[in-house]
Parts: sequence; structure tokens; C-alpha cells
Amino acid sequence: MTQDVTQAPFGSVFGEHLPIARFDGQRWSSAQVVPLNSVHFGPQTHALHYASACFEGLKGHRQPDGSVAMFRADKNITRFQGSAERLVLPVPPTALCEELFSLAVSRNADITPAAPGSLYLRPTLIGTDPNVGAAGRPSKTAALYVIASPVGEYLPSHPLRILVETQVPRTTPQFGVVKAGANYCMALGLLTRARQDWNADQVLFAAAGAIEETGAANFLLLDEGHLVTPAQTDAFLHGITRDSLLQLARARQWTVEEREVTIDDLRAWAARPTGEMALSGTAAILGGVGELIIDGEVVRVGTGQTGPSTKALRAELQSIQRGERSFEFR
Ligand SMILES: Cc1ncc(COP(=O)(O)O)c(C=O)c1O
Repeated sequence: MTQDVTQAPFGSVFGEHLPIARFDGQRWSSAQVVPLNSVHFGPQTHALHYASACFEGLKGHRQPDGSVAMFRADKNITRFQGSAERLVLPVPPTALCEELFSLAVSRNADITPAAPGSLYLRPTLIGTDPNVGAAGRPSKTAALYVIASPVGEYLPSHPLRILVETQVPRTTPQFGVVKAGANYCMALGLLTRARQDWNADQVLFAAAGAIEETGAANFLLLDEGHLVTPAQTDAFLHGITRDSLLQLARARQWTVEEREVTIDDLRAWAARPTGEMALSGTAAILGGVGELIIDGEVVRVGTGQTGPSTKALRAELQSIQRGERSFEFR
């Protein structure tokens, strides 16, 4: 791989080695590593018709000694198993996930870029029954594989411009917590229109009167030693980055509130001279928000720039991920 992968669009360059295991209806096979493009699924595959598919997203980071370490992979495995359960897919055992994730890192370590780049891992679980008549039945068979993608920055470098969607939810109240491709697909029309009509970078969903999350990240309000974020419900994804940032903020003795955040709260926070807002996620890490678009009105957030609290938390999390300092996450 000679190109500078960190300049390629996020997630568009892939490692050649794909760890995979299959469930035959009774038991999981052992882990194998196969060439990326040697895996084929037929057009009648259950997941392609009935969306019996979920995934995860985590990163391997280069450490000072040159090794590559995954960040809080145990949390991704637990969330992955929860998604599988809710989609009535075979739930992969923890030890098998650990083995496949580790193989994805070790076999693709040579293409892992140095910081600020990293190796993005995409564990994927799909229902593989060849049956287009099984709309009302779960797939008995499944495949579990981990794609590795060397990546650079995910977010643009400018402060983000976010359209607040107050009418249409991203997904259903019970499936937001699942990392299922169907959720992303449902939000695509709105996101595309937000880009076209408003030049927005993302959409913040707030259809139930309070904000939930954006299309691919959680949402935080910050202000000099104060962090506020929506309390977790089944309507949105429980981000591991969100959890990590909250732990870091608490360790700094910041006031951390997990509570309902209404549109009025958003407007009031944006009007604070030191008010900050940010998106958090594995890919994004923590990206500052400069402007909101609420009911057709452009609202500047604080100074309109990525603020000092956002920058400080982002830098702290990155230094932990890169093994430059340690922190005991619970
Ligand atoms: C819809 C959605 N919400 C939140 C997040 C943040 O989750 P995490 O911090 O675990 O990456 C993601 C993924 O990045 C996401 O796709």
C-alpha cells in the first residue's frame, strides 16, 4: 500500500486480511483469516432482504512501542452482542469476538498509519440463510467478519454546521440503540437534503421534543467545566466515546449532567459566550459545532469556533488512545 491512506475518504481503503467465522445453525466455526475479496454471499442472503445485519466500529491505535492497541474493545463486543440479540441473530461469544478483532489488528498491523491515523475496524454480523421467504423468521445461519481500514480524519477541519431535525426521528424508539445498517439508511434522505438545502455537515435528531443524537455520533454541550448530554434511552446509540468523555470529565471534577436537552435548552446554550457543542464518536472523536440550523434559522454556537473544552477533552482522549498516558476506564 503505497498511497497515503490518511488522505483517502474515511473507510475507503481496506486491509487484505479478513478474519471470519460462520454459524451453521448449531455452532460457530473456528476463526479463519481469508483474503478480503474471497468471501461471497448469494443474492438470496437473508441480510440482503430483511436487514438481519449489525456492525461495530472501533479503532486500533499505534502505541509508543510501535504495537497497535484497540481502544475499549470489550465495550464494542458487549454492544455488538446486544445488537445481535435485538435483531434475533446468533449472538457471537465474547471469546470469538476477541479472537477475530485481535486477528484483524495483528494481520493488518503493517498498514496501520501513525497518529493521527489509525486502523478502523468494522466487525459485521449478517444473517446468511438463503431464503427470501423468511420475512417473519430469523436467519439460523450467520457470518461474522472484521474488516480493517486504515484511516485519517473523519470530520472536516471546520467547525460543524448541524441541521436540527425537529419532526422526523432517525429511527424507531426501540432500535436506535442497535448498531444496524437499517438505521443509517432510514436517515439518509434527510441527511442528503440537509446537505443540499442547508450545506449542513450532519443532522441532529430531536423529533420527540428533546435532542437524541446525530446521524453517526452522540451530542454534547460543554462550557467551562460543565458537560451536558442526553440521558441514554433505547432511542439512540450508547456511544463508547461518549462514555469515555464523561469519565474523563468527571475525573476533571467537571459538572456532568445526563438529562433531557430540549430545543430551548439548545438555543440558550448556544447564546452563552462560552457555550460549546460537539459530536462524539469513534470516527469523529470529538468535533466542535459552529452553527445550528433550527426551524430555518441559523444559530451561532458560542463564538462559532471549536471551543477550549472540546479541544481539551479531545486531546486528552487521543493521548490515552495512543498510549501516551493512562486512564482506568470503568
Ligand atoms: C448513530 C451513532 N451514534 C453514536 C455513535 C458513537 O458511538 P461510539 O462512540 O461508540 O463510536 C456512532 C458511531 O460512531 C453512531 O453511528
